[in-house]
Amino acid sequence: MNIPKIGLGTFGSDRFTPEQVAGAVKGAIEHGYRLFDCAAVYGNEDLIGKVFEEAFTENLVKREELFIISKVWNDMHGKGDILLACAKTLKDLRLDYLDIYFVHWPFPNYHAPGCDIDARNPDSRPFFADEFMACWRQMERLVDMGLVKSIGMSNMTIPKLELVLPQCRIKPEFMELELHPAFQQEELFNYCVKNNIKPIGYSPIGSPNRPERDKTPEDIAATELPEILEIAEAHGVHPAVICLKWSVQIGAVPIPFSVNNYKSNFDLTLNTKPLSGDELAKIKKADKNCRLIKGQVFLWEGAGDWHDLWDENGVIAGW
Ligand SMILES: NC(=O)c1ccc[n+]([C@@H]2O[C@H](COP(=O)([O-])OP(=O)(O)OC[C@H]3O[C@@H](n4cnc5c(N)ncnc54)[C@H](OP(=O)(O)O)[C@@H]3O)[C@@H](O)[C@H]2O)c1
Repeated sequence: MNIPKIGLGTFGSDRFTPEQVAGAVKGAIEHGYRLFDCAAVYGNEDLIGKVFEEAFTENLVKREELFIISKVWNDMHGKGDILLACAKTLKDLRLDYLDIYFVHWPFPNYHAPGCDIDARNPDSRPFFADEFMACWRQMERLVDMGLVKSIGMSNMTIPKLELVLPQCRIKPEFMELELHPAFQQEELFNYCVKNNIKPIGYSPIGSPNRPERDKTPEDIAATELPEILEIAEAHGVHPAVICLKWSVQIGAVPIPFSVNNYKSNFDLTLNTKPLSGDELAKIKKADKNCRLIKGQVFLWEGAGDWHDLWDENGVIAGW
């Protein structure tokens, strides 16, 4: 099955309960969504699994018509752990395979739920290609075992990909990356496309309800860029819809989270007038290179600030 053009995100951002998110998944299936972006760390796969099971028994949809994503969390990268993590996710989601399984972050660093943004886990460490490849070998085994149809990487950078791609027996088919008009990541996006890796754009609306730990005063909201506001007015839609249309039209797959607007996001993004060439050019120029999901809580002791996670000067920080 080809990946659908748009999906539903399921990270409740510590604000929406698993019940609310599962309710949105049910409504979204009924409305026509076929792609769902789940992850073990979102803490709601068991309830979403009940919704999938119900949808299959009620003949709302067949398993093979859904495209279901999950991700292994950072505390399960160790030898043998990825199989356990995948088995738990499959059990929770009540599935016998996933369409894509992602390595959620490219290092085994994690934080306690709700921890302070300056907290440093003493076990955290910088990216290390050999360690990542040990984790990727386990991902490749999941494909061999038929538990996942394809595997992908998330929150990667070009310097990291340059190190690991040549070593992959099974290449990543998909990449999850932050992608919205205020953070277009054109270089990484083009690198993925050149390497036959399909970009899946997370936080496509600029994650207005992201956890407080991910907010800084310099953040720029994609939905408040003057260019987006002007185009939204011309199309008579909410600026969020322009962000989603832009993502689809540049060749990404957006996975917006929503408990209130998922129906109109689906209809207006896919079934109303597309953005014109001029509008796309205007949005391209509006990029602010403003990363919102910075990952501060994954820093290791002795690291500088969050920029160290993203290899911005082409060098992998830390060792
Ligand atoms: N791989 C990774 O590391 C990673 C990181 C972050 C996120 N993700 C994935 O990407 C998904 C989406 O990212 P996100 O949740 O950070 O942010 P997002 O999709 O950019 O923004 C979601 C927020 O936008 C609001 N919204 C949606 N449509 C709207 C509309 N038409 N008008 C007004 N507001 C609207 C939603 O509120 P309402 O509920 O009121 O509509 C929701 O609070 C996540 O759920 C997760 O699945 C992956």
